[in-house]
Amino acid sequence: MSTLLTLLDAFDDGTQARSLREHTYRALGDTVVDVGCGSGRAVGELAARGARAIGVDADHDMIEVAIERWPASEFHVGDATALPLDDGSVTGYRADKLLHDLPEPELAVIEARRVLAANGRAVLIGQDWDSYAIDSDDPELTRALLRARADGVPQRWVARGYRNLLLDNGFTDVTVEVRTIVWTDATCLPMLANIGGEGAWLDDQTARARDNRLFLAIPFIVASGTRAG
Ligand SMILES: C[S@@+](CC[C@H](N)C(=O)[O-])C[C@H]1O[C@@H](n2cnc3c(N)ncnc32)[C@H](O)[C@@H]1O
Repeated sequence: MSTLLTLLDAFDDGTQARSLREHTYRALGDTVVDVGCGSGRAVGELAARGARAIGVDADHDMIEVAIERWPASEFHVGDATALPLDDGSVTGYRADKLLHDLPEPELAVIEARRVLAANGRAVLIGQDWDSYAIDSDDPELTRALLRARADGVPQRWVARGYRNLLLDNGFTDVTVEVRTIVWTDATCLPMLANIGGEGAWLDDQTARARDNRLFLAIPFIVASGTRAG
């Protein structure tokens, strides 16, 4: 299993992550594309709610995993900026933890507008990479690790700009909110390891998890908008 898949599974299995996903499914209508769908969890969940859900991801291996995990659902290998969908063919567009990876996130939003029918709804979800909160015995190292991790993300601030991306690219009724996910147990240790901590720093976090003294909070920005007719 790839590192990204291990991280996504650790994140997506949590009750708060599940609740965040459920929140984003509202108002997407009966035909929904999930772009950057990863292992396809949202597609499977949307299909279980009765939607025709389509997953698109640029990574062949991810799409293979998605097909294996959700064999009844529809998946395509494709790029967020050139979706394998006709103009106006979906009522809902969803991109969860995707735009920070793209060289030009605006192109994905323009593509969202193209594939959405008039009055269709887009929802963008992603963490603010510069706002992770971690309790640690070593605050200075923690700040340095977090900064270095955020600096490695191509569009580390993109979620702060979701609202503007929608407003600037043909969406109305734009809303934005922040939902913070909090971990206090060992389920987030893969994410803490991914931040780059090792040795004594990670040992401290592991001990905190063991002793019920861990704290990690990550704010997720959720913005949605209606495709103007
Ligand atoms: C962090 S993962 C999130 C996966 C899923 N949305 C989730 O929330 O679990 C980002 C996904 O976006 C995909 N991706 C990256 N660049 C892409 C692009 N240009 N077009 C489509 N998918 C892309 C990656 O392959 C990966 O599966």
